[in-house]
Amino acid sequence: MYRNVKNVPYYIFGKGSLAQLDDLLRERRHEEGEGVVFFIDHFFYGKDLVASLPVEQGDRVIYVDATHEPTTDYMDVLAAKVREANSSPLSCMVALGGGSVMDACKAVANLMTNPGLAEDYQGWELVKNPPVYKIAVPTLAGTGSECSRTCVLSNVKKRLKLGMNSDYTVFDQVIMDPELTRSVPRDQFFYTGMDTYMHCFETLTGSYRNRIVDALAEKAVAMCEDIFLSDDMMDEVNLEKMMIASYLGGMATGYVGVVHPFSAGLSVALHMRHGIANCYALTVLEDIYPEQHAQFMRMLERQQVHLPGGICRRLSAEDYDILYEGAIVHENSLSNRLGPDFKQILSKQNVIERFKRM
Ligand SMILES: [Fe+2]
Repeated sequence: MYRNVKNVPYYIFGKGSLAQLDDLLRERRHEEGEGVVFFIDHFFYGKDLVASLPVEQGDRVIYVDATHEPTTDYMDVLAAKVREANSSPLSCMVALGGGSVMDACKAVANLMTNPGLAEDYQGWELVKNPPVYKIAVPTLAGTGSECSRTCVLSNVKKRLKLGMNSDYTVFDQVIMDPELTRSVPRDQFFYTGMDTYMHCFETLTGSYRNRIVDALAEKAVAMCEDIFLSDDMMDEVNLEKMMIASYLGGMATGYVGVVHPFSAGLSVALHMRHGIANCYALTVLEDIYPEQHAQFMRMLERQQVHLPGGICRRLSAEDYDILYEGAIVHENSLSNRLGPDFKQILSKQNVIERFKRM
């Protein structure tokens, strides 16, 4: 059986395309339901961008705290906030932000039409009812959340990082306006952009393959190399390119490899954000990804991005256990690159030594 793949049905791409949000919402406002809920990255609080949005009476703006990765508990809090303000069905939800804000919008849109808590839907094909219509406006490029069928959520109690994998999680519309990424701090632009690079090379160097995914991933990797080996990763052309690479990379998300499990360990144990955690992970995988490791070091240097060392020094034995468990639990990904006997290379001692080198 071949998988039946769902993609984002509509997208708009181009500099200044955010201006078309008003028209898109107007079409939705005539449908049944009332009000639009905007999920906005708290980074934009008080900024001009928010004042320029087509917010009308009855709409609601909710600032999403993206300091940490989204948790299931936080999704329940956001869902309660939306419910309490809007008694009638919503006509639309809009996410304006990076991966965390887009993932929060996807999760809450599912929770608006499906009973229970966010953690009830962590897994595959668990969402039963069609969610609220939702539009993504990425302000950061690289996670691929704008077009993927999941939203990554940390369940703190269960120490589980797993999304709501479902066709219902896919956005109905995406607006890609590269202009919105211009104000991103340079380091963050790099770390998040690298997420596309890592997803795609991990897919391409794995053993589970799909030809369409390969084609998309190859293009996204080449674009990332162009961007991050150029003189200025944030010049006008590169802002556009990065948004496209993220979109292609999001569609190419398949099985990852060894970078993402190590990155997940850092997120679980040290609450480190995903993009930068990926970067640390690759710095200690030179034997597993020699070519990509060398390329990555060149990119870091070319863009003069700093990755301070020593992040896992002087941790307790218990912390190292959490790092190890947080990485080794991702068996599918690890065996995708290293085969089913991956523990022969990644013994507990080997894994902990790698973390200590970061
Ligand atoms: Fe990722």
